[in-house]
Amino acid sequence: MLGVFRRLGLGALAAAALSSLGSAAPANVAIRSLEERASSADRLVFCHFMIGIVGDRGSSADYDDDMQRAKAAGIDAFALNIGVDGYTDQQLGYAYDSADRNGMKVFISFDFNWWSPGNAVGVGQKIAQYANRPAQLYVDNRPFASSFAGDGLDVNALRSAAGSNVYFVPNFHPGQSSPSNIDGALNWMAWDNDGNNKAPKPGQTVTVADGDNAYKNWLGGKPYLAPVSPWFFTHFGPEVSYSKNWVFPGGPLIYNRWQQVLQQGFPMVEIVTWNDYGESHYVGPLKSKHFDDGNSKWVNDMPHDGFLDLSKPFIAAYKNRDTDISKYVQNEQLVYWYRRNLKALDCDATDTTSNRPANNGSGNYFMGRPDGWQTMDDTVYVAALLKTAGSVTVTSGGTTQTFQANAGANLFQIPASIGQQKFALTRNGQTVFSGTSLMDITNVCSCGIYNFNPYVGTIPAGFDDPLQADGLFSLTIGLHVTTCQAKPSLGTNPPVTSGPVSSLPASSTTRASSPPPVSSTRVSSPPVSSPPVSRTSSAPPPPASSTPPSGQVCVAGTVADGESGNYIGLCQFSCNYGYCPPGPCKCTAFGAPISPPASNGRNGCPLAGEGDGYLGLCSFSCNHNYCPPTACQYC
Ligand SMILES: *[C@@H]1O[C@H](CO)[C@@H](O)[C@H](O)[C@H]1NC(C)=O
Repeated sequence: MLGVFRRLGLGALAAAALSSLGSAAPANVAIRSLEERASSADRLVFCHFMIGIVGDRGSSADYDDDMQRAKAAGIDAFALNIGVDGYTDQQLGYAYDSADRNGMKVFISFDFNWWSPGNAVGVGQKIAQYANRPAQLYVDNRPFASSFAGDGLDVNALRSAAGSNVYFVPNFHPGQSSPSNIDGALNWMAWDNDGNNKAPKPGQTVTVADGDNAYKNWLGGKPYLAPVSPWFFTHFGPEVSYSKNWVFPGGPLIYNRWQQVLQQGFPMVEIVTWNDYGESHYVGPLKSKHFDDGNSKWVNDMPHDGFLDLSKPFIAAYKNRDTDISKYVQNEQLVYWYRRNLKALDCDATDTTSNRPANNGSGNYFMGRPDGWQTMDDTVYVAALLKTAGSVTVTSGGTTQTFQANAGANLFQIPASIGQQKFALTRNGQTVFSGTSLMDITNVCSCGIYNFNPYVGTIPAGFDDPLQADGLFSLTIGLHVTTCQAKPSLGTNPPVTSGPVSSLPASSTTRASSPPPVSSTRVSSPPVSSPPVSRTSSAPPPPASSTPPSGQVCVAGTVADGESGNYIGLCQFSCNYGYCPPGPCKCTAFGAPISPPASNGRNGCPLAGEGDGYLGLCSFSCNHNYCPPTACQYC
């Protein structure tokens, strides 16, 4: 027991140290410290962070920017979502170190698409492995842990394997588990839905608030960890083995949800997510270092940083039990978002999913427009975060409207029209600031696809935020147009006119005529070797044999059972270097990572008539100088 007490002491000390580091609030408004709030799960703010896509990070410094941005927004802790990838412990170590250096807290969120509910001992041991770290979040002086899914886990066995009284708030589900052994529960469903993990259908709507109520009733007074999310859109086609294609209604979701959070005063909230680009619910930067699991087709040029900006005054108000954000607005801002195409645009001829069958074992694959697209509206949203009242003018294409805004939070919307998108704040007839979005609404199917991910911008403009090379790795794989390159194509942000000036400036759009320079050399590291987890599906976890031991990656493989023998050479080559796509290939040995031959700067494509299963393998192998003429060619 001595060890347990020592850990508790360290946690309490760390919490006390953090509270003295200051907070994100304006100097004149004191925000309740983490120490005070964490003593009893009283208004804590978490954000879900996917470790599975950041296996390319090389040191704890690669986490610093994320930690600093999250802390500045008022997030108390990252929920570090882990599967069973070979790099998990290395990355957890980096994240804990960086969090400690940057005054953040972290905890592990076990992803039970990968972990087994039968492995309570493994879960407990993993918690124990990190519970002593200074950055570990302690609530009620107990190490905190959470999950995605996991019903059926033996929580008593978990605690005894952890050797401590873990404060466990898993994503168990009402009716599927008893709440008796847990301390609280996370609800993942941050989106209105049909009760079956898809968008609402006529007569079939389960709102986010319905989910709140179901969880609160089931928990009977135990702390409820409520979700907050800005969006949901995913569009993986047959170019990957984890095909899925649907939306949940987005629109004003994040603004309305934060208002609901202030009204309801939940004990804890979790922003879903920081960096799950594949499902378009990220609030972290595009440049946050990560591998491309295929999401860059709809994520490139689509920053969401404004969603984090919008959240900041709400987070401060929430911590202080305030329902009005006015006094927490540090910098006045317009945050706007919309989709780059109207929903009627027809991209069937070139889309990656239209009329293209793919593995639908998950039941999440649909062809063409994403399932649920009818629930989306063609609307430009503008949140005005103001210290004092003003007028907000919004122009979408040929339509302009002016709205009266109050101090605090306001949400305005106008119908989306093709053309430029412009925004201005005025007071007493004088422009305070104004600007034109870098993203026009067009009738061009960008990269040929249906893209229902929103573009989010701010006035004044934020930092430039292009995807980096690793995050663009798979952009062209599976595209049916040749006009799209794996490069950011937005210009740099235009200089913001800050006021007061006597009139609106003439159009000052500074869309760069050529994209910013990016390295033309393909990254030499392989893409993630395991498919991203579908945190909203009930797919069973993979067989244990695909689990690499800690610190190891795939170093040998062959064609998967039942797949064409024509894959053998490609699988043997690629699996040797850690890239062993499930579907065509299977891994037969794990070990220390082996560096592939140098990139030749060229990209490979399947031979005409070969299936989409060859896309990733030809791309990777040809790029590293193995381009078997029976399957692949240089594109
Ligand atoms: C995939 O499965 C779901 C669930 O059964 C079904 O609704 C959907 O139509 C299927 N998709 C395709 C492309 O057949």
